[in-house]
Parts: sequence; structure tokens; C-alpha cells
Amino acid sequence: MTLVIAMDGPSGAGKSSVAKGVARVLGLRYLDTGAMYRAMTWWMLREGVPVDDPDAVAARAGEPELVCGTDPAAPAITVGGIDVSGPIRTQEVTGAVSAVAAVQAVRERLVALQRQVIGDGGIVVEGRDIGTVVAPDAPVKIYLTASAEARAQRRSREFTGAAVSATQADMARRDGLDSTRKADPLAQAADAVEVDTTSLTLDEVIAEVVRMANDSTAGGAGNSAQQARSLVGEQLGEERT
Ligand code: DC
Repeated sequence: MTLVIAMDGPSGAGKSSVAKGVARVLGLRYLDTGAMYRAMTWWMLREGVPVDDPDAVAARAGEPELVCGTDPAAPAITVGGIDVSGPIRTQEVTGAVSAVAAVQAVRERLVALQRQVIGDGGIVVEGRDIGTVVAPDAPVKIYLTASAEARAQRRSREFTGAAVSATQADMARRDGLDSTRKADPLAQAADAVEVDTTSLTLDEVIAEVVRMANDSTAGGAGNSAQQARSLVGEQLGEERT
């Protein structure tokens, strides 16, 4: 298997920005598995499936045709040919996704799809169970965390513009559901490296993950932190100008 970087952690820890940035710097593909659970949820809601009824959700889990792009510069996701990149970020979907993601039949279907996309590797994959379930043999496993306040602040800036306290309460509810469910809960793999992003800039976190990836491909004798930082500066700096 060529390089697979598994990136797990709670919502708002910075997984998407970091995973996309690392993929761009290293020329890898990118897979947002959360978007797949959201797309499944969007479809269930559109079909009028009662999302709090696990049996009803399980009975329809095989139906929607999901296609997930892997370009970190333009990640797209379609359901039955409809681009749902925007609609999967609404409050309605965010409120329902943890219930849908807790259904075993949904997880089995999406984990199989995720493994197909991962294929021979060359990819950064973000989610909640990548290092533990989807790609337990991934050579690089990161568990991203940040303080609850920092995570809520980032999320409310990014999406809703809602009060930080309301966002923090909603995130705590979702993280509680995601980490206590029976099927593949949010968990740090025993061999994952924890990176606390609370007081780091985005580029600092990207550089740290790039350094780990380079170390792993060079058998532990890879680029120094300084080299990883200049690689990030060169690649992302150019894109931003
Ligand atoms: O990362 P996100 O907020 O877009 O994820 C949406 C939901 O999907 C999240 O509440 C938990 C669930 N999820 C999951 O159960 N397993 C994954 N690998 C990714 C996301």
C-alpha cells in the first residue's frame, strides 16, 4: 500500500483544512468521509425516512448512489448525480447526521465505499474511525484535537455565524453521540499521534503532518521540521498569491 494518512478527531479540530492542505502539499488525493455520512443523511431526509428510526434508515441504506470526488482543491460529492456539496452543510443535515451515522448498515456500506476509494493509497482520509476501522494499516495516523472553545469558535466562524455558545453546545451533543455509539465510535487508535491544534496556526499543523508523512516514507529518517515548513510555505504560499 502506498501512503495513506488517516486523520481522525472531533468536529472543529481542523481536520478538513489540515487534510486538504496536506494533500495539496504532498500531491495526494483527499477523502472527506464525513461528507459521505452527510450525503446519506441528506438523501434520507429528502426521501422522508424518519432518521431517528434505525430500522427505517437501515432498510434504505443501500439505495442512494454516492460518488465522492478526491481532488483536494475541489472536493465534490453527488447523490444520484445531484451535487450536494452545499446542501449537506445545512443545520438540518448537521442535526440529523449523528443518528444516521450510528446505524450499522449505513456504516458497513460507507466503509466499503471508502475502502474502494482508498484503493492502493496515495490519499489523506479524514473522519472518526479511519485509523481504527477503515484503514487500520495506514502508515500515518493522526488524531487532531483542540479545546472545546477553540473548536466552537472555528465552526461558528466557518459556517453558521451563530453564537459560539450555541455552536459549542451543539458540537458537544454531536461529539457525545459520535463517541458513545456502539458502531465504530469516534476513538483514537492506539498507534495514532495526537496533535493538539488549539494554539497552532493551520500551516504549522500542516507542516507537522507533512513531516510525519515524510518520516514514514523515508523509514524514519525523513525531512526535518524545517524542511517540512518550507515545503508548506512554497506550495501553499504560491496557491494563495
Ligand atoms: O466531519 P463531519 O462533521 O462532516 O461529520 C459528520 C458526521 O458524520 C459526524 O457527526 C460523525 C459522522 N462521521 C462518522 O461517524 N464517521 C466518519 N468516518 C466520519 C463522520
